[in-house]
Amino acid sequence: SYPSRVKIVEVGPRDGLQNEKEFIPTDIKVELVNRLSHAGFVNVEAASFVSPKWVPQMADGAEVMATIDRRPGTIYSVLTPNMRGFEGALAAKADEVVIFAAASEAFSQRNINCSIEESLERFAPVAQAAKEAGMRLRGSISCSFGCPYEGAVAPANVLKVGQRLIELGCDEIDVADTIGVGTARQVYEVMRMITEHIDPVHVSGHFHDTYGQAIANIVAAMQAGIHIFHSSVAGLGGCPYAKGATGNVATEDVLFLMQGLDIETGIDLNAVVDTGQWISAHLKRKSASNAGNALAAR
Ligand code: HMG
Ligand code: MG
Repeated sequence: SYPSRVKIVEVGPRDGLQNEKEFIPTDIKVELVNRLSHAGFVNVEAASFVSPKWVPQMADGAEVMATIDRRPGTIYSVLTPNMRGFEGALAAKADEVVIFAAASEAFSQRNINCSIEESLERFAPVAQAAKEAGMRLRGSISCSFGCPYEGAVAPANVLKVGQRLIELGCDEIDVADTIGVGTARQVYEVMRMITEHIDPVHVSGHFHDTYGQAIANIVAAMQAGIHIFHSSVAGLGGCPYAKGATGNVATEDVLFLMQGLDIETGIDLNAVVDTGQWISAHLKRKSASNAGNALAAR
């Protein structure tokens, strides 16, 4: 069965843009976030407070956060790999901070330069400080369905990291398919296993669409009881530490799916289609959203 309502977290301004080679002007980033919040998203991942040496595109996170309109009811999230990032998030008045771990050791090393265990130790003070500041806390688990360096990833590792993130106080954990290799049965099984131990209200699906499986995977995850999904307008994105990884599932495609299933999202699909066309034009490329392109051509 399907949920009657899902929460869609728009990650385009962060996951979507972080891998762009050419620096995107801050005012474009700000306009992107504003267009998305006005389209009705209750959660927009707006920036990263990471090392600018590692991810130069996200270097202007503080300015983005200081300049956007803060739509009441929208949670603005930012990535924080360590206390330095947390201080930035706090100063920027982020509503939610995201700590990001991995289910594979090799990816943890490449992405945040430490082991999984070290990362969890590093996240503990971030989690505590976030709670003390009254901020929401989210924890991401990269490579939950496969790793670009290690290949197959044991579902038990995903659960183990998920449980640690929950123990740290995460309101939500994101089961992430960084390189988009997961397929529907695998997603169903991993999500079922996780939700045997963790209430699905705390679990989201973060699917990249590299192999074109993301929509099927969302359907499979819904059948396993998940009702929070991440997506990126125009399917923007790719991870700088996962070679060949392409964007997140396109938000327009997800909204079109939900519309067809009579599942409420609270989001204005037309506004997202316009935004997808606008940002793609800015990036001088065609949108990666099939639904977005079809609807724009109508
Ligand atoms: P490191 O080099 O081990 O750490 O990086 P460090 O402490 O030696 O710091 C290196 C430099 O960065 C130093 O500067 C620090 O001051 C500075 P220097 O002294 O050389 O001038 N620095 C910072 N600057 C700004 N903000 C900070 C910060 N921290 C240190 N917070 C570190 C370790 C974790 C910092 C680095 O590896 C890093 O920033 N990694 C982030 C990588 C990243 O953002 N990846 C993409 C996001 S994750 C993702 O996309 C996956 C997800 O979508 C889910 C999925 O799909 O899988 C979430
Ligand atoms: Mg991602």
